[in-house]
Amino acid sequence: MNLYGKNFLKMTDLSSEEILGLVDLSKELKDKKKNGIPHDELKGKNIALIFEKTSTRTRCSFEVAAHDLGMSTTYLDPSGSQIGKKESIKDTARVLGRMYDGIEYRGFGQEIVEQLAEYAGVPVWNGLTNESHPTQMIADMLTVKEHLGKLAGVKFVYMGDARYNMGNSLMVTAAKLGMDFVACTNKKYFPESALVEYAKKEAEKSGGSVTLTEDVAEGCKDADVIYTDVWVSMGEPDSVWKERIKDLTPYQVNEKAFSYAKDTAIFMHCLPAFHDLDTVIGRQVHEKYGLTEMEVTDDVFESERSVVFDEAENRMHSIKAIMYATLVPKE
Ligand code: CP
Ligand code: NVA
Repeated sequence: MNLYGKNFLKMTDLSSEEILGLVDLSKELKDKKKNGIPHDELKGKNIALIFEKTSTRTRCSFEVAAHDLGMSTTYLDPSGSQIGKKESIKDTARVLGRMYDGIEYRGFGQEIVEQLAEYAGVPVWNGLTNESHPTQMIADMLTVKEHLGKLAGVKFVYMGDARYNMGNSLMVTAAKLGMDFVACTNKKYFPESALVEYAKKEAEKSGGSVTLTEDVAEGCKDADVIYTDVWVSMGEPDSVWKERIKDLTPYQVNEKAFSYAKDTAIFMHCLPAFHDLDTVIGRQVHEKYGLTEMEVTDDVFESERSVVFDEAENRMHSIKAIMYATLVPKE
């Protein structure tokens, strides 16, 4: 794997060797951190973190990882910059590229992060767009490997909104790594057909498979992993809630879904998750539609099967690996 000087924008850009190389590097850097071995090889470098949507995990991961690597960070929040409002992405890229060694961008359309990367002249890392969430993929694959001991051959079931950033990225990643990926949801929420075709071709090469089904019993049969994400993503209008609840409630991750899976199956979620009434949005949805939990039940979320906090921790180790691989020259 040699990703030095490259961008990290979407999973279709990466080979299976590069994905596996980043998973291994994440583990190496995680072990160093746990053993107190310094790894500040990027001392003196500076990175910019642009967030046009909110974040807990991604922002904190970039900040902590940068600090561990010896770098300084500048955080630009949705209101704290001129980006897009008074200054184009192309101009912003050329300004920030003169000051920083790398730029993280979280925002809306994939074309924005692609344009930033085209003009910045330094590595750009996609911290989430509507279409893609690639940094999450390295953390998720590390988590699967740590819990199940392998990636190829794992039956990976994604339930819920499979046509957005998480469903798209997981399908492509799983297909490249020889997993048996299943999108188990209402057909309105299947990933778009061109991406499904791409993933199926990748799966043919890797020995994996890609299946789309509306049948929960069939989809979850012998699953090793059941994964879900929120039903309404950042940037989507509140008006879609009613339809989403109606369409996706049959695909809630609950004990019934897990009854079809292997006894050893794990539950994963990129977080944040609506599994109780301890959030403002959770309570608003409860008042309006009567639901007490949404994409995952509280009992599954809190169960032994749930590895969501390992997954959240792994965001930091894997983001560190992505920055390291793109900023440290290969000997
Ligand atoms: N999973 C994830 O990207 O979390 P944040 O939105 O908190 O960054
Ligand atoms: N699909 C979610 C992922 C959050 C990490 C969103 O875009 O809001």
